Formats: sequence, structure tokens, C-alpha cells
Amino acid sequence: MIKKLRKAVLPVAGLGTRFLPATKATAKEMLPVVDKPLIQYAVEEARAAGIEQFCMVTGRGKTALVEHFDVAFELEATLRDRAKSDALAALHGAQSEPGSIVTVRQQVPLGLGHAIWCARAFIGDDPFAILLPDDLVLADKPCLAQLADAYYETGGNVVAVTEVPHEQTNRYGILKVGSDDGRLVEVTGLVEKPDPKDAPSNLSIIGRYILLPKVIEYLALMERGAGNEVQLTDAMARLIGEQPFHGLRYEGRRFDCGDKVGFLEAQIAFALKRPDLADAVHAFLKNYV
Ligand code: G1P
Repeated sequence: MIKKLRKAVLPVAGLGTRFLPATKATAKEMLPVVDKPLIQYAVEEARAAGIEQFCMVTGRGKTALVEHFDVAFELEATLRDRAKSDALAALHGAQSEPGSIVTVRQQVPLGLGHAIWCARAFIGDDPFAILLPDDLVLADKPCLAQLADAYYETGGNVVAVTEVPHEQTNRYGILKVGSDDGRLVEVTGLVEKPDPKDAPSNLSIIGRYILLPKVIEYLALMERGAGNEVQLTDAMARLIGEQPFHGLRYEGRRFDCGDKVGFLEAQIAFALKRPDLADAVHAFLKNYV
């Protein structure tokens, strides 16, 4: 029986060193694309895929992420007094169901695999999604909802994948590919950040996963991989052959918001999709190109 997907883990303990000084006193996941922080895009995308329960794996200096989804009583009362209904409406997506967000701390920066292992009590025996808020996907149907369809089709582990230029394989988890129908790809191997000369393909994992809980057993071994970190990719690789494992070529455009250029491009792409901003942004862009 395929269990319903209700849980998501959001690893948000990273230091955000690539965005210093902006991230000196604030979480990088609070950086906005247009007017919404990265973390809220991830939470809204997850909700659209049926996720009801969230676990943020946080660290020191990340309290704003939890505050963001709380009720801001004084702010809302003030906005109501002043009849600022648009501003009140803007707060809507930042409101969470009572009890739907829990946090655990990743006390030491031992990598993404270790961060996910820190959420093991939350995960329990259930399938779970992982969203890395740095990866933003602009799509008609939200990326995680596409991945959830693939999970219900296959009943196994699924990761969102996209082709990258061959020289960039050392930035991502890379697939070794079996059968491939152009949409769903059978995964026969996984390598974290291989040198282009060793890469089994140029099909890379983006920050969207749906995994069965068994992966936690392999994470618990705490084996160090690339960068001397506990890599999620290595633990996932051990599932191949034991459980179905597929890559999904999702429809949409991914922006790597952990990178300055990717982050700037996301601002433009998301602004151009906004009816209230598109014309003005389009007009000023002509001055720069
Ligand atoms: C992580 C994963 C990598 C994946 C990437 C997607 O790397 O380890 O397999 O391809 O996210 O964004 P990071 O970006 O944390 O270095």
C-alpha cells in the first residue's frame, strides 16, 4: 500500500556564507524574491502537494524562520485598525495551521544527510518530502506536486532532476540512468558532486525529493562522503536495488538562489510573472541590455 505523503523536512541550518554580509544577522532563507522570503515559497509549494506537517532543521540565528509563520497579533491589529486590507491579505500565506511546524536543531554542520537524520523522530515510518529552499522552481504545476504524482505512480523514492552543463556536475548529485521514458528515469546509481570526467551523466538532482523512511537507516551510519560531510546522496544510493528509485524531469525553470546570479535571475523571472509589476520591470530592463 502506498502511504499518503503528508510530511516535509526543510533543511535550513546553513550559514549562508555566499550571501554575506546580507546573512550576517538574518537567515538566508528569509531573503526575499520580489516580496516573499525563500522559505515561504518552499512551504507554499509543499502545501500545494498535500503536505500538512513541516519540520524545519534549523541552527543558531534562525529564529526568524519560525517567527515568520506565527500569528503577528500586533501587526495584524494595526493593519485592521488602519483598514489596510491589501497588507493583511499579503500575510495570508505566512500563516500556518496551529501545530503544523516543528523544529529540530542541527547542532553541528555535518552536511545535508546529517540534517535529514536530525529529523528522524518527525519522519517516523512515513514517506516524506525534502525541499531545499535555495532551489526555486517557476512552474505552472508546482514542482513538488509533480514529484508527488510520480511518487503515487511508482510507490518509491523520487527526486526531481534536470540536465546541467557537463562542466557543472561537480556542483550536484548526479544520476546514473537506466530506462528513461523522457519523463521518468530509472536511477541505477547516484554520485555526489563528481568531477565532470567521472560523472555517469549530466542529469542532476535539484532540491526536491520524496523518500521512503528507510533512508534514515543508512544516514544513521554517518559515513562521510564528498567534502567530508554526511551526504544524503550516498544514503539514497544504498536504496537502489532495494526499493524503486526514479528521477523525474519536472516541467518548469529552476533558479539556484544559493548563487548570486541565480538569485538575481529569479528576481527578474518572478517579477515578470507578476501582473502588478511585469510592465514596469519590462520597461526598465530595456535600459540595461
Ligand atoms: C545539495 C545536494 C546535491 C543536490 C543539490 C541541489 O547540494 O547535496 O546532491 O544536487 O543540493 O541543489 P548543495 O547545494 O547543498 O551543495
